Amino acid sequence: MTEGTQLIRGLEGVVAAQTKLCDLDGAHGRLAYGGYDIADLAKQATFEEVCYLLWRGELPTRGQYDQLVMSLVAARELPKPVVDALRLAPKAADPNRTFQAAIALLGAFDPDADDNSPAANHRKAVRLTAQLATLVAATHRIRNGAEPLAPALDLSHAANFLYMLTGTRAGGAAVKAFDASLTLYAEHELNASTFTTRVITSTNSDMHSAVAGGHGALKGPLHGGAGEAVMRTLMEIGEVATVDAFAEKALAEKRRLMGFGHRVYTAGDPRAAILKGMAEEACRQSGQFKWYEMAVKLNERIHAAKKLIPNVDFYSAPLFYSLGIPVEQFTPVIAMSRIAGWTANIIEQHADNRLIRPRGDYTGPKRRAFTPMADRGQTGHVDTRR
Ligand code: COA
Repeated sequence: MTEGTQLIRGLEGVVAAQTKLCDLDGAHGRLAYGGYDIADLAKQATFEEVCYLLWRGELPTRGQYDQLVMSLVAARELPKPVVDALRLAPKAADPNRTFQAAIALLGAFDPDADDNSPAANHRKAVRLTAQLATLVAATHRIRNGAEPLAPALDLSHAANFLYMLTGTRAGGAAVKAFDASLTLYAEHELNASTFTTRVITSTNSDMHSAVAGGHGALKGPLHGGAGEAVMRTLMEIGEVATVDAFAEKALAEKRRLMGFGHRVYTAGDPRAAILKGMAEEACRQSGQFKWYEMAVKLNERIHAAKKLIPNVDFYSAPLFYSLGIPVEQFTPVIAMSRIAGWTANIIEQHADNRLIRPRGDYTGPKRRAFTPMADRGQTGHVDTRR
C-alpha cells in the first residue's frame, strides 16, 4: 500500500464532501433537505418548491415560486432533433440507454452547455429538470409506437408528466402521490449516482456530462434500478398466497432481495415509511391492492428472517405501478426526480471544487522484465474465464 493511504472498500464511512443540501441521519432514520424534514416536505411542499430549496438554500416566496414555475414550464419542450434521435433506438432497447444518451445530446442544444458559472448552472438545472420529465414520457411513447404529447402548460410538473406519459389528466390524489414521491427521491447526499456527478464535475466538466454519467450509475440494480427489480419480483411472486413460499425459497437460496437493505440507514429508511402509506392508498384507488398486500407480506417475512429494512425503492414500486408508470420506466422516473439533487450537488461542487482522485492499492505482479512477443510461447488459446 502506498505510504499515507488506507484501503476503504466501497468508500464506506468516508466523508468526501461538505454539503448544505441533505442531512442524512442513518442511525436514527431521519432525512432533511436544507433543514426541513422530508415528511413535512412530502406532505406540504410541491416538487417545484423542493427544487427551489435545493438550488437556492431556502424555500421560495410566492413571487420566487411563480417565477420558477414559469421557467420550468417554458423549458418543457425538447429540441426536435432530440425527439428524432429517440426514434433511432431499437424499440426493445432498455429505455435507460436511450434516456442517458438523450441527456448527453440535450447538452449539444443547450446555449449554456460549456458555461460552468453559477448563473449558467442554475439555468441548466431548470432546463434539465423540465426536459427530463418530457424525455421520459417521449421515450415511453415512441418505444410503444405512439407520438409524444406536447406538454400541457397549465399543469404542475407532476401532473404534466403523468399527462404526457398516459395521455389522460390524472386525478388530484394520484398527482399528489406522484408529486410527493418526486420530493422523496429528489436528493440523498453522496449516493453512487450523485457521487458520480460530483466526480465528473470535479474535472471541470459540464452539467449535462455529469448528469448523463449520474444516470449510468443510477440504473444499476444496487441503486435506482432496484425499484424496477422490486416490481419484477412482485410480478414473479404473482399472488399474495405465494409470498411465503417465495420468501422461504429466496432465503434458502441466499438470494439478494431488491428493495431491502441500505448502506447508511440502520434504523429504517424514512422515505420507505412515507411511500408505504402512499402505496397503500394508490393501490386501493387503482383496484390493484394485491401489489401492496404482497409487498407488506414480503417485507414482514424478510424482516423477521434477516432484519433487513425496506429502502426507498421497495414501496415506490407498487406505488409507481398503480399510478400507471411502466416498470421499465421506473429508473428514468427516479432520475427525473433526482435531477434536482444532482444539479444542486453539481452547483455545490463547482463552488468549492477539488479534483476527486483517490488511489488504488496495486495487487498485481511485481516489477518484471519485458518479454518480446517472440519469447512468449505459441499457444493462441485465450482464457475467456478471466
Ligand atoms: N438481500 C439479502 N441480503 C442482503 C441484502 C438484500 N437486499 N442487503 C444486504 N444484505 C446482507 C448481505 O448479504 C450481507 O450479509 P452478510 O454480512 O451475511 O454477508 C449484509 O446484509 C451486508 O450487505 P452488503 O451488501 O455488504 O451491504 P452494502 O452496504 O454493501 O449494500 C445495498 C447496500 C443497498 C447495496 C444492499 O443492501 C443491497 O444490495 N440491496 C438490494 C438492492 C437495493 O435495494 N438497492 C437500493 C438501495 S436504496
